[in-house]
Amino acid sequence: MSLIKLPILIDPHTHCRDFEQNNKETFETATRAALAGGYGYVADMPNHSHPIVDKRTLGELKDLAEKQIVTDLGIYLGVTPQSVSEAEKNFRECEGEVRGLKIYMGETTGGYIVDSDDDLDKIFRTWESNKPILVHTEDKSLVKALELAEKYKRNLYVCHVSRKDELELIDKFRQKRKNNIWVEVTPHHLFLSDKMSISPFGQMKPPLSSDEDKEALWMAVIKGEIDTIGTDHAPHTREEKMGIKPPSGVPGLETTLVLLLRAEKEGKISREKIIELTHNNPIKIFNLNKEKYDRAEVVLVEEEFLIEENNLKTKCGWTPFKEMRVSHKIVEVNFDGKIGYKDGEILAVSGSGKIV
Ligand code: NCD
Ligand code: ZN
Ligand code: ZN
Ligand code: ZN
Repeated sequence: MSLIKLPILIDPHTHCRDFEQNNKETFETATRAALAGGYGYVADMPNHSHPIVDKRTLGELKDLAEKQIVTDLGIYLGVTPQSVSEAEKNFRECEGEVRGLKIYMGETTGGYIVDSDDDLDKIFRTWESNKPILVHTEDKSLVKALELAEKYKRNLYVCHVSRKDELELIDKFRQKRKNNIWVEVTPHHLFLSDKMSISPFGQMKPPLSSDEDKEALWMAVIKGEIDTIGTDHAPHTREEKMGIKPPSGVPGLETTLVLLLRAEKEGKISREKIIELTHNNPIKIFNLNKEKYDRAEVVLVEEEFLIEENNLKTKCGWTPFKEMRVSHKIVEVNFDGKIGYKDGEILAVSGSGKIV
């Protein structure tokens, strides 16, 4: 039986839910799923039932998360059309406590889209920080985000890039070398395509793209044009997904590493590249404690199995990768000097993770 070890994974893009959405997931269940999937840090997106936009909502989130988390938790500040008028104050008061600023520049869960040119200009101008501005964009809004980041020389992190034309556009801006532009890709856009009829459990933003786009994403991974793999873990209940208007989003924390190792086995990606995208680069981009996460490790055993839903720790209890064959099983996760996960069981106690 051959064991392999990898440094613990870092997820820059998780939706922990909780608050009024604790039927979908909580800080406890999200971080338990993270640990079981080999992650020691997840960064929570601000599109909660109450968006995280100021000192008060940030404080509420910390109070709620603190006692629950079993991995480390990073927080992003959000901004909505309603909170733009207070941007100076909010950014000044919260910048030191978050890992970046998230702007929804396209329609998605939560409905916090900022689409007025004046608002967007003000946000990019006012975020006078080296910490990245993370954007959810759609078609036209990607150009806008790239232009504004260039105009104000802000560090830009483009979430869930899913198409070839987006990669080409980003490449044009990168060649000017005016600012840092980082690109995230999700496991569902790498491993699923619009050919697979798994909807509504395959419905997410941005939607699954064509096989051609999917191949372009893999090519970009190989060529070094992708910086991170973000799970975009976005749980919704089965009932919601099977309803008449299914919400967008799929879970991903427990399946990403094993899918990547299967891809390695198939010769699509190297071990070094996996570590770069899920560990080294997110640590650099979000300025995390390298020593701490370098010491933590995931142990896997080589074993063929099919991804099953009944073993999942995520509260939603389903996965779009159901029945997919993988080649490795996570047997142990060592985090913060302790065994946090072993053979299907979470050993880490609630509240042992840190808000960082
Ligand atoms: C995310 C969610 O449900 O919060 N949904 C999704 O389809 N990706 C929001 C987002 O990341 O856009
Ligand atoms: Zn509330
Ligand atoms: Zn998004
Ligand atoms: Zn997301």
